[in-house]
Amino acid sequence: MQMSRYSSILFFLFLQLFFAIQPCHRVVTIAAGGGRWQLLQKSIGIVAMHMQLLNNDRVVIYDRTDFGRSNLSLPDGKCRVGSSDLVVKNDCTAHSVEYDVLANKFRPLMVQTDVWCSSGAVVPDGSLVQTGGFSDGERKVRTFYPCNGDCDWVETGDGLKARRWYATNHILPDGKQIVIGGRDQFNYEFYPKTSSSGVYNFPFLSQTNDRGSENNLYPFVFLNNDGNLFVFANNRAILFDYKTGKVVKTYPAIPGGDPRSYPSTGSAVLLPLKNLDAATIEAEVLVCGGAPRGSFEKVAKRNFVKALDTCGRIKINDPNPRWVMETMPYARVMGDMTLLPNGAVLIINGAEAGVAGWENGRNPVLNPVLYWPNGAAGSRFESLNPSTIPRMYHSTAILLRDGRVLVGGSNPHVGYGFSGVLFPTELSLEAFSPPYLDAQQNNLRPAILSSTASRGKNIGYGQKLLVRFKVTGKLIPSMVSVTMVAPAFNTHSYSMNHRLLVLGNIKVTYVGTSTYDVQVTTPRSGNLAPSGDVVPDGNLIQTGGFSDGERIHAMVTVMGDETEPSNYEWWAVEDSIPPTAAKAYTGIGCGGRLKMAFELV
Ligand SMILES: *[C@@H]1O[C@H](CO)[C@@H](O)[C@H](O)[C@H]1NC(C)=O
Repeated sequence: MQMSRYSSILFFLFLQLFFAIQPCHRVVTIAAGGGRWQLLQKSIGIVAMHMQLLNNDRVVIYDRTDFGRSNLSLPDGKCRVGSSDLVVKNDCTAHSVEYDVLANKFRPLMVQTDVWCSSGAVVPDGSLVQTGGFSDGERKVRTFYPCNGDCDWVETGDGLKARRWYATNHILPDGKQIVIGGRDQFNYEFYPKTSSSGVYNFPFLSQTNDRGSENNLYPFVFLNNDGNLFVFANNRAILFDYKTGKVVKTYPAIPGGDPRSYPSTGSAVLLPLKNLDAATIEAEVLVCGGAPRGSFEKVAKRNFVKALDTCGRIKINDPNPRWVMETMPYARVMGDMTLLPNGAVLIINGAEAGVAGWENGRNPVLNPVLYWPNGAAGSRFESLNPSTIPRMYHSTAILLRDGRVLVGGSNPHVGYGFSGVLFPTELSLEAFSPPYLDAQQNNLRPAILSSTASRGKNIGYGQKLLVRFKVTGKLIPSMVSVTMVAPAFNTHSYSMNHRLLVLGNIKVTYVGTSTYDVQVTTPRSGNLAPSGDVVPDGNLIQTGGFSDGERIHAMVTVMGDETEPSNYEWWAVEDSIPPTAAKAYTGIGCGGRLKMAFELV
């Protein structure tokens, strides 16, 4: 392996020279190791407009019932006959599928009413509980239980008090969901209902609603570690106590004042939470992209304004929080932001001009971008290899358990449209493999062999766990870290319920033949790791957010080398049955340093 070490050094010098002559935010050339695209399915028959990964490594995907007939028939002669559908009265095609990640296969599912522009979350028993939609579906609640057979959606009638179209859901520490807003709804409610639960006013949504263009649908909502909700809509945010209905904190407007919410659609993530046992946790939110104010109005005159190329980052628990602005390599509207297991943020999909909505976007951005939250300011972005498929309005991206990102959808038309249009309806599914999955990292990539969070057991809060893993390359034990990722409900450029925790109290022990045990402590409360269910004998983190089904959904990230503090290398390991991917990453900052530390042995 001397050889590859040598070539790493050459690579380093080349990059330094190259980047030294480029201003950081204009670096769009792709270095080797810029990730890889793979076409998984040419067509799944429907548009991947909403996606959720379940604990059996299957993804529930759906579009809308009133797009017309899809390219996938329902099985066994099933049809929705004489339904209240606005477009097809007798529809024997599917508008939802279950995609099996491990087998790369899909099968049609049946939704009874319109699920268009809806929302949802995985709840503690591992099922996806989806809420709302359009027309006959606007108050409906539907549940999909993970199964290995031929299960389907279970529709439970009008489970919502108000119509919820373009609303946001978030899973709460008690395992319920809060459902916030939606078109013309300046209120929120909870699901499931107790006898007393109603609809609660939420003035922040009327205050942030722009007349004529809205610019505050699908608000970005994150559960803070203090139990309050951080809610961002349009160009500003509050910290909200949903139990009392009180605004706890009002954050300053994002500099520039331009809207970041639908239809001026940007995206947002809660950055990885660390130091989970500290008295004060430094939670940070990153909001990227969007459209300059007035863009929606200009699109009506077919004037497609360049999207925003800025991100705002804010420490939401600071006594005096302020936005720190950064510039992305590309302007982007309708981008998706996804947390990766190594703590980086992937920004993917979307367009460089226009806004969300029918025929409203132009200039697809085909290159994903990585954002390194811990990188030096000014050199946090890294442009990656481009796709060939535009992913415009109604496209999606979610993190899979093997570290790849599943990408699908795009349909900026009122119906399915495959010809004579600028951006044909996309029925394909792709996987983007971030650089940490590159083959040359194979010997650096740990694989989990076993863990004490064994099948069939729930993981408790504040509990010590052992994860045994193997790495054939040289490991620096002090650099091992373990992260837990909650899989997201993704639609309209926003990943609801997505969060990543860097677990504390790491202790690594060598147990022989390239094998190690890492001991970690699970998060201490449901405010950190929601979707837990409080049971009589103590607090449990159940299947929804963090233990993926009966397995711990934790990924081990190994980073850095103490002898070269400017360098870092990220590894991730995940529990998988069968043991498969773990990830190693060599990051290259746009400042020009090759952040490479590990000695290959
Ligand atoms: C979907 O079906 C239509 C009409 O039957 C056809 O023209 C189109 O090529 C199909 N699209 C894909 C991606 O299979």
